[in-house]
Amino acid sequence: MRYFPLLLLFISFLAAKTPLENTTCKACHPIIFAEYQHSQHAKASIWNDPVHKAVWDKHPNKEQGKYTCAKCHTPSDHSLKGGRGVPAGNTVQKDEPISCQGCHRIESIEEHVHANRNVIQAKPKYFYSADAKRKGEKVIFHETSSFFGLFKKTTGSPYHDIDYGNDLFYTGKMCLGCHDHKQNGKGFALCDLGVKQGDSNATCISCHMPQKPGTMVNLKHTATHASHDMTIHRGTLAELSRYIKLSLKPASQGFTITLHNEATHTLFAQPLRVAQLRVSIHRDGKTTVLPPRQYVRVIGTQGKPSMPWLADTVLKDTSIKALETREEHFDTVLKKGDKVEIVLGYYLVNPKVAGKLGLEGDVSTAFRVLTKKVVEF
Ligand code: HEC
Ligand code: HEC
Ligand code: HEC
Ligand code: HEC
Ligand code: HEC
Repeated sequence: MRYFPLLLLFISFLAAKTPLENTTCKACHPIIFAEYQHSQHAKASIWNDPVHKAVWDKHPNKEQGKYTCAKCHTPSDHSLKGGRGVPAGNTVQKDEPISCQGCHRIESIEEHVHANRNVIQAKPKYFYSADAKRKGEKVIFHETSSFFGLFKKTTGSPYHDIDYGNDLFYTGKMCLGCHDHKQNGKGFALCDLGVKQGDSNATCISCHMPQKPGTMVNLKHTATHASHDMTIHRGTLAELSRYIKLSLKPASQGFTITLHNEATHTLFAQPLRVAQLRVSIHRDGKTTVLPPRQYVRVIGTQGKPSMPWLADTVLKDTSIKALETREEHFDTVLKKGDKVEIVLGYYLVNPKVAGKLGLEGDVSTAFRVLTKKVVEF
């Protein structure tokens, strides 16, 4: 027993030293690294996402010691692979649950009914990326020297190879191993992003990873880089407002608001969300708030809403689908001089469910505005 404290010290030393893959990337890609740290991909485990944790804490798999969420929420911690064990709180889970390599080594996506699966490239230090000008190239690091080694010329990255030939990184389909759909244990589709490309040229990458100022790497200056800050709900929401078009036109009885969704997926597809269209009319110094229209997908069993693992039916689905145009009619007759304020927003967690999950505070009380428009009549 004398050695026990020493053993503990040794174990905590080991835990503190769990090497993080992303630390290497940080040295050469500091801007992208900083954005990633802020993104929800860096916070996808139970340690940094209180909403995910709240659902996990109530999930029956927890008692069975099977963290089946790992495949999408914490794939970079290989010790949790295949739902083995529960997250114990190491640095991978806390700092890089979906590491840089967790995305850049996705070679292909296997489609399955229950949930898709990412097939990871076996070679280490071999990353896929997209650059339309270099499509198809494979950049293997090498040095060429001339004049008996006096002058050295290098190509590519001194740390890794780059493969510009993986189509999934151009179409955005590399996101769909995790994002497309997921069934629960009863074979019921809990969430389905409902992706539809239609005539749109936009991809997951063009909308969610727009080019922003700043070099993508230290060793070579580029004016812009693809943003890695995927933090809609706690950050970049306003940047997405341009993809939702709101308009108003008077109708014979009242007026109609048209909402066009340019996103190639269902809006707010995560089943905890609830979205609302709120309309208010300002007239003669007074404001009238009309009853909101609600967009929600309610899941449950035996005719009643339920927790996700129990659900086997869709009780109601008013969610706005990919590329859909939705019209809402209001029967208030507008007068000249009226100002109509239209707001499309949402609650991160349906306030009706939040209490049951033991969640409080702004996740369920803050109404987050995605887009808004004021029309003067
Ligand atoms: C020693 C510096 C260095 C380190 C460390 C490094 N990179 Fe790079 N990386 C580069 C350079 C330089 C380029 C640009 C190569 C070029 O354009 O030919 C690059 C390019 C890339 C690209 C492709 C960019 C494109 O053109 O689309 C990706 C993806 C990438 N790195 C990912 C990573 C990841 C992930 C890590 C950590 C595991 C990492 N890098 C670590 C130097 C580095
Ligand atoms: C097939 C991949 C996949 C699996 C497996 C998975 N999830 Fe998720 N989960 C996602 C994705 C992708 C999102 C982000 C969806 C979005 O924002 O629309 C997400 C989001 C969530 C959210 C909402 C988080 C928030 O901040 O609002 C909760 C809660 C959640 N998952 C719980 C779980 C639990 C609990 C498990 C395991 C029992 C699990 N998930 C398994 C892919 C998965
Ligand atoms: C035309 C632009 C556009 C394209 C293309 C697009 N999105 Fe979105 N996405 C949006 C907008 C706008 C929102 C905000 C509304 C919302 O949260 O649903 C959003 C939200 C999301 C969310 C958060 C949903 C939530 O409520 O938690 C995820 C996850 C997401 N998109 C993933 C994807 C993936 C994966 C693809 C590729 C299949 C994709 N997006 C393609 C515009 C786009
Ligand atoms: C969620 C998946 C995902 C994660 C996590 C991720 N990347 Fe990327 N990354 C991509 C995709 C997709 C592209 C291609 C973007 C494009 O076409 O412009 C990309 C592009 C890049 C590029 C090229 C940027 C440019 O402007 O062309 C570099 C460098 C890079 N990533 C490095 C990293 C590093 C370093 C990390 C971790 C700190 C990281 N990535 C994490 C998906 C990811
Ligand atoms: C390895 C699985 C995985 C891959 C690959 C992946 N994601 Fe995610 N993503 C997740 C999970 C899990 C979450 C939810 C994390 C949470 O909130 O707990 C998420 C969250 C998001 C969100 C919501 C951010 C927010 O504010 O809550 C967006 C947007 C998103 N991902 C876009 C993308 C795009 C675009 C790609 C492809 C370039 C991509 N993801 C690739 C697993 C993945």
